Amino acid sequence: MSLALLPPVLSTLFRLFAYIFLQIIPTRLAIPVLPLLHLGYLSALYLSLSTAPEPHDPDAKKSQPKDTDPSPLAAVLLGLRTRDRLPNVLNVLINTGLLLASLDLALNPVLFPEQDVTFTRVGAVYPDAAKIMLRYPLVNETEHEVQILYREVTQSVAPWKDGPFITLSKDNDWVNATRLGSLWPDTKYEYIFSSADGILLPYPRAPIHFQTFPDPRLDSGSHFKFIVSSCITPNFPYKGPLARNNIQGFDLLSQSLTPPPAPIASVLGAETNETDSSASNETESITPAPVTSIFPKFMLFLGDFIYADVPVYFGDDEDAYLRLYRRTYASPSYRKIYEHLPMLHAYDDHEIINNYGGSGLDPSPYPVAVNAFKLYNGAVNYDSPALGDHYFNFTYGDVAFFVMDTRRYRSDPETVNNTATFKFIVSSVPFTSLWGHDAVKDSWGGYEVEKTQILQDLHSVPNVFILSGDRHEFAAIEFTGESEGSYPVQEISTSPLNMFYIPFVRTLKLQSEDVVQRTRTEVTLTEDGPQVETFDEEIPREKVLEYIARGTVKWSSIEVDTTNKTRPLLRLETWIDGRVAYQAETVGSPVKFASKALTYVPSSIKQLLEKIGFQSKQWF
Ligand SMILES: *[C@@H]1O[C@H](CO)[C@@H](O)[C@H](O)[C@H]1NC(C)=O
Ligand SMILES: *[C@@H]1O[C@H](CO)[C@@H](O)[C@H](O)[C@H]1NC(C)=O
Ligand SMILES: *[C@@H]1O[C@H](CO)[C@@H](O)[C@H](O)[C@H]1NC(C)=O
Ligand SMILES: *[C@@H]1O[C@H](CO)[C@@H](O)[C@H](O)[C@H]1NC(C)=O
Ligand SMILES: *[C@@H]1O[C@H](CO)[C@@H](O)[C@H](O)[C@H]1NC(C)=O
Ligand SMILES: *[C@@H]1O[C@H](CO)[C@@H](O)[C@H](O)[C@H]1NC(C)=O
Ligand SMILES: *[C@@H]1O[C@H](CO)[C@@H](O)[C@H](O)[C@H]1NC(C)=O
Repeated sequence: MSLALLPPVLSTLFRLFAYIFLQIIPTRLAIPVLPLLHLGYLSALYLSLSTAPEPHDPDAKKSQPKDTDPSPLAAVLLGLRTRDRLPNVLNVLINTGLLLASLDLALNPVLFPEQDVTFTRVGAVYPDAAKIMLRYPLVNETEHEVQILYREVTQSVAPWKDGPFITLSKDNDWVNATRLGSLWPDTKYEYIFSSADGILLPYPRAPIHFQTFPDPRLDSGSHFKFIVSSCITPNFPYKGPLARNNIQGFDLLSQSLTPPPAPIASVLGAETNETDSSASNETESITPAPVTSIFPKFMLFLGDFIYADVPVYFGDDEDAYLRLYRRTYASPSYRKIYEHLPMLHAYDDHEIINNYGGSGLDPSPYPVAVNAFKLYNGAVNYDSPALGDHYFNFTYGDVAFFVMDTRRYRSDPETVNNTATFKFIVSSVPFTSLWGHDAVKDSWGGYEVEKTQILQDLHSVPNVFILSGDRHEFAAIEFTGESEGSYPVQEISTSPLNMFYIPFVRTLKLQSEDVVQRTRTEVTLTEDGPQVETFDEEIPREKVLEYIARGTVKWSSIEVDTTNKTRPLLRLETWIDGRVAYQAETVGSPVKFASKALTYVPSSIKQLLEKIGFQSKQWF
């Protein structure tokens, strides 16, 4: 290749790679590939310029007529070397700018460690309590105590009540959590903080509100909504250094949650009701009661909250993990969500390292990674049945949630059939085997035996939904059970909230080859009386109901309404890039409550794992 061709080839490669890195997928290859390509381009340009004839060289004019010099526009677009100085200078500037932008994206957590971020949020909410997290660093101190002051939100302003103290210390990165108890069910509360000597702290500027969960002993069913998604990287796709703390997914989510303008009728009636706008007749013609009109009770975040190793892995230094959490909490986009919505977190592989799967006893980086997760996200989840573990379960009214730790454990989703109307099994990785590529191993698809066993149990329980993430795509999948009477199971996989999706390449099969045999009976009324016909059918064991790959911002909003016992309802609304892209309504089976309490507790997770034949060292 002629030396003159080298600069445009290297420059174009560099630009293509930089574009992919900044806008499409923040691949770990970028460092070192981008600096090397840039260096290569600069050297090639330098060499080709120093060996090229000078523009004013009369011999050169003869051998290389002026009209072969590319137009300045083409030169700048393609990185062509010219004898003119300006396009070369512009090219070097453009490419250096792209390199700096890439370095900014990759090194941001190091450049801005966000030591000072102050925040509070609510995590687990109970009928009589709530877990509250606080980070409040102080300069020139190593430890201080903060007290929660709280009160019911009522028409008249009540005095603040003394809540528990929280000890914050530098050793624990100034973050800690506590449980605020003795609350009334289904009641709105607000809280602020004071120092140990009784001085109100300047943060939060306005009290933080939350509402306790309803009393599950009430037999009235429940009607609520929650949000589910996973996978975020701030400022991706890259929008320049000033947007370093933006997480568009949270911005759009927050916009979607802003209550729609109050219907005229309720303004006239001087009554605002955030949970129901459909009661009045007059409003119907104004807004057809959108699903979004009820405010969600919480958000389930299914992991990849930090990308410890994307685009650069900084090693298992403690602060390398902690600063990634601080960065996300420092994001004004995320603040708009966590100051208003209880957040529950599962971890996934990128909280630790790509495709992690291990016993949790492994050395680096698990202990450091999980400590950081615990401090910032895990501490205000519901308590795990096993001390020090990160799977947990909770209930909202008559609806049960089981959040698994699919990285360290595949704990059997403990299911008893008639205790809760809807049951949500929460798995950071997909349950379906329809995803190909690395999902063949990095999902439940890699563990067919365990998966089949669990599915078999789930099919005997009505109204089970699996919520998952991790694939950076959306899909709703239906699983059909072996026996005639088995209940279908649905999976709703939603991600990313703010991260790449892969254009063009599609890795989800639309149905499994594996089928179940069914006989369908049809009764038709004829002149000779009813005629019964039976058909043999083959139904795919797993089948895609909806698949949307596109979109760097995705979340699902799930509304559950069990107030009509004979017709429990689930409404799914999936948002892609800030717009509703898919809606589906499922009418569940009525559930006869066998007992009020969920009765089965795994005595030992180890035994459970052995029971389902789980061999350690095989993880996804
Ligand atoms: C912290 O300590 C330094 C050095 O002793 C002092 O200059 C600074 O004013 C202190 N800052 C605060 C907020 O107390
Ligand atoms: C949190 O605060 C409690 C009591 O205030 C204290 O005992 C505990 O050590 C603190 N934990 C962390 C992680 O700072
Ligand atoms: C909102 O509407 C629901 C149902 O119509 C009602 O039970 C509740 O009391 C209302 N809340 C307020 C604050 O008006
Ligand atoms: C709505 O309007 C209809 C007809 O005007 C009336 O019969 C009905 O009672 C109204 N419903 C409510 C909830 O106000
Ligand atoms: C979790 O499940 C167990 C057993 O199913 C139950 O006893 C416990 O109350 C549940 N925990 C929460 C917070 O709902
Ligand atoms: C309840 O579940 C068990 C196993 O999980 C199953 O054997 C049983 O048939 C189910 N009962 C009903 C009524 O579905
Ligand atoms: C509950 O659902 C059943 C079945 O769809 C319906 O017949 C009944 O009218 C509903 N009840 C109420 C109170 O809406």
